[in-house]
Amino acid sequence: MKALILIGGQGTRLRPFTLNRCKCLLPLVNRPLITYQLALLKRFGFKEVVLAANASQPGLSEITRLGKEFSLSVKLSLEKSPLGTAGAIRNAAPFFKKEKAILVFNGDFVADFNLERIIALHQERNPVATIILAKVRNPSSYGLVVMDERGTIRKFVEKPAPEEIVADTINAGVYLLSQEAINFIPAKKNVSIERETFPSLLTSGQDLCGYIHYGYWLDVGSIESFIQATRDILDGRLSREFLLPVKEEKILPGVKIEGQAIVAPGSLVKPGAILRGHVVIGPGCYVDQDCLLEEAVLFEQVSIKKGSVVQRSLVGRESILGSNARLTGSVLADGSYVGDFSCLGETKFSEQ
Ligand code: GTP
Repeated sequence: MKALILIGGQGTRLRPFTLNRCKCLLPLVNRPLITYQLALLKRFGFKEVVLAANASQPGLSEITRLGKEFSLSVKLSLEKSPLGTAGAIRNAAPFFKKEKAILVFNGDFVADFNLERIIALHQERNPVATIILAKVRNPSSYGLVVMDERGTIRKFVEKPAPEEIVADTINAGVYLLSQEAINFIPAKKNVSIERETFPSLLTSGQDLCGYIHYGYWLDVGSIESFIQATRDILDGRLSREFLLPVKEEKILPGVKIEGQAIVAPGSLVKPGAILRGHVVIGPGCYVDQDCLLEEAVLFEQVSIKKGSVVQRSLVGRESILGSNARLTGSVLADGSYVGDFSCLGETKFSEQ
C-alpha cells in the first residue's frame, strides 16, 4: 500500500513559526514534525510516500531528503493554489491509479497507531473509507464522529453544541480511502475531506467505517498542542518505537536539571544554569551562566545571555535574549531580539 501525507496547509494556528517554515518541518523535541509520520510508515513496512504540498511552500527538498533517511521513496504532488484536504487527495490521484486503497495522513499529528490492524480492518470490511478515530475528553472544539456498535459511521457533527455531544470520538486525520472515495472528490476544486467529502459520502448511502485508536494521539496544529506534545514526548507518553533516536549533547557539570531536559548536539549550556520541568534546547544554542529555563523550548541557534529567565515560552530560531531578561508565557518569532533587562509577558500596568 502507498501513503499520502497532506502538508500543504497554511498552518495559521502555529504562527509565527509557520511564517517562514512549513508546519511539518517545525522541530518537535528537536526532530522535524514530519519525521514522526515517516517513522510510523517505515515501522509498518511502507516503501513509498507521496507528499501533497503547495508548489510554492519552502522546504520541499528538505522533506524529500528526510524521506530518504527513512528509506522511503518520496514523490511530490504539487498544487498551484490550495485545494483543501480532499482537493489535495484528488490532485494526487494519478500517483495511485493501481492501488485498491491508499493511506492518507494529515501532516501534523503525533501518534502510535497500529497501521497493521487498521489496514486489516479496512480489508476485511471493505468500506468506501475507514476513518481513524481518537478519543478525547472534550470533543466540543473538534468534529465529532458518531459510530454504531458495528463500527459503521452514522453521523458527523462539526463543533458540536453541548446537547450534540453524544460520543467522544473525533476524526484523527488518518484515513484509508478506496478508489471510489478518491473519485468521489471533484477535481480541481478546493474541498475539505472532513467537512464535505465524508458527510456527502454518508448522505449518499456509502459505507464508512471507523477504527477507534486507544493509544497516544495528538493533533499538533496549535501552539498549545505543540507544547503539550513536547511535554508528552519528554514524559515518554509516545512509545520509544515511534521515536527516532536523538543524539544528546553531554550536559556539562554544574548545570542543574530538575525535570526532563533534552539538549541537541552543538549546543552549550554553561554551569550555573538551571533546566527545570520540560525543556528542549535545539542545535547550536547557547545558554549562559545562571540562566533559568523552565517549561521552555528553544528552536535552533538561540542565544540566552547571562542571568536570564525563560518560563513557559517558545523561542524561535536565531533569536537572542540579552542578559538578565525575563520571558514568561511568551512566543518569540524566529530572529527576535530581546534586550538586556527586558521583561516580556509578566509586567502588569495599573489601569488609570
Ligand atoms: P491551520 O491554518 O492552523 O488550521 O492549519 P492547516 O492549514 O495546516 O489546516 P489543518 O490543520 O486543518 O490541516 C490538516 C492537514 O492538512 C495539515 O497537515 C495540512 O498541511 C493539510 N492541508 C490543509 N489544507 C491543505 C491543502 O490545501 N493542500 C494540502 N496539500 N494539504 C493541506
